[in-house]
Amino acid sequence: MTKLRVGLLFGGHSGEHEVSISSAQAIAKALTASENLSKYELQPFYIQKDGLWQTPEVAQQVLTSGVPLPPQTSKPQLWQFPSETSAIDVWFPIIHGPNGEDGTIQGLLTLMQVPFVGSGVLGSAVGMDKIAMKTAFAQAGLPQVKYMVVTRSQVWSNPCIFPKLCDQIDLALDYPCFVKPANLGSSVGIAKVRTRQELETALDNAASYDRRIIIETGVVARELECAVLGNDIAKASVVGEITYKSDFYDYETKYTDGMADLLIPATAPADVIERIQEMAVQAFAAVDAAGLARVDFFYVEDTGEVLINEINTLPGFTATSMYPQLWAASGVSFPELVDRLIGLALESSSAAESNG
Ligand SMILES: Nc1ncnc2c1ncn2[C@@H]1O[C@H](COP(=O)(O)OP(=O)(O)OP(=O)(O)O)[C@@H](O)[C@H]1O
Ligand SMILES: [Mg+2]
Repeated sequence: MTKLRVGLLFGGHSGEHEVSISSAQAIAKALTASENLSKYELQPFYIQKDGLWQTPEVAQQVLTSGVPLPPQTSKPQLWQFPSETSAIDVWFPIIHGPNGEDGTIQGLLTLMQVPFVGSGVLGSAVGMDKIAMKTAFAQAGLPQVKYMVVTRSQVWSNPCIFPKLCDQIDLALDYPCFVKPANLGSSVGIAKVRTRQELETALDNAASYDRRIIIETGVVARELECAVLGNDIAKASVVGEITYKSDFYDYETKYTDGMADLLIPATAPADVIERIQEMAVQAFAAVDAAGLARVDFFYVEDTGEVLINEINTLPGFTATSMYPQLWAASGVSFPELVDRLIGLALESSSAAESNG
């Protein structure tokens, strides 16, 4: 049997570069596990933080060491891809956050006309942008927290307008609020604010990260997550819970060992779990996701309400990440999960071809 050459694409110009290396290490291991060894030939490609693509040989060294390469001192030749890229049968991009999860890489791979794992340009872009995502969720009738959208130019406008903007937010939403740049991920630039003064500072800070900002009413809730796998017909996994002692699930809590725990399966009433699984699949379709996604929820125990928080179209995929662990608990092992995702990539690309 000829092996399918899988281009594992990792690293990238994003705050989640290191997580991407860990995800790629785990996927590389699964592709070369005994179950998959006869089917796939692994060809890793590493994108440095400055955007330069490295050959499979160098990428393998990064996978082995787990250490990112430093950016070049001179401006890299971004559009010279390693020659091995032309022989790839299917891509497996695992770059989290901006420039990886937002449709940019997906656009490039679409132009290359080679199948790839995960959502296409539309699903990735809508899933990444918190404002577009919430609009799609609202349209699909999914319940969410109350929110408002403002732009950098409103925040940085003349000093007479800014107080009026804050008045409007004060009136529309309750404290505490969460102020979030629309397009960053990993809790970067997110602030929980309890007073008008904190709101003003957080808006100014968020505006330095992004042109568009979202402000949400904060809820006191448990954080439950569900994994989705499939294309047009997608399935939900068992539900997991994230617990932590910090004020919220911020960047430090996410990426410091021991600051957060994953509980799989989550212990919640059966009807809550069912609602989450249904909503996860609806959210997947609402943004036009494909292949995989992790959908995150707030469960307000006091009222029984379940609110959707967000969808992640390229969720963390390390050996200890929620996404593969939810599938493991649902009976799909890590190597099988990787195999299924490649199968789904081939399926969606042949569906696209038959459309014209
Ligand atoms: N409206 C809210 N009410 C209560 N807690 C919130 C709210 N919004 C965000 N949080 C807290 O902040 C964390 C990060 O927010 P969110 O999930 O929206 O962004 P993100 O994690 O940066 O996005 P991504 O998962 O794409 O990286 C949440 O996991 C939660 O702990
Ligand atoms: Mg999140």
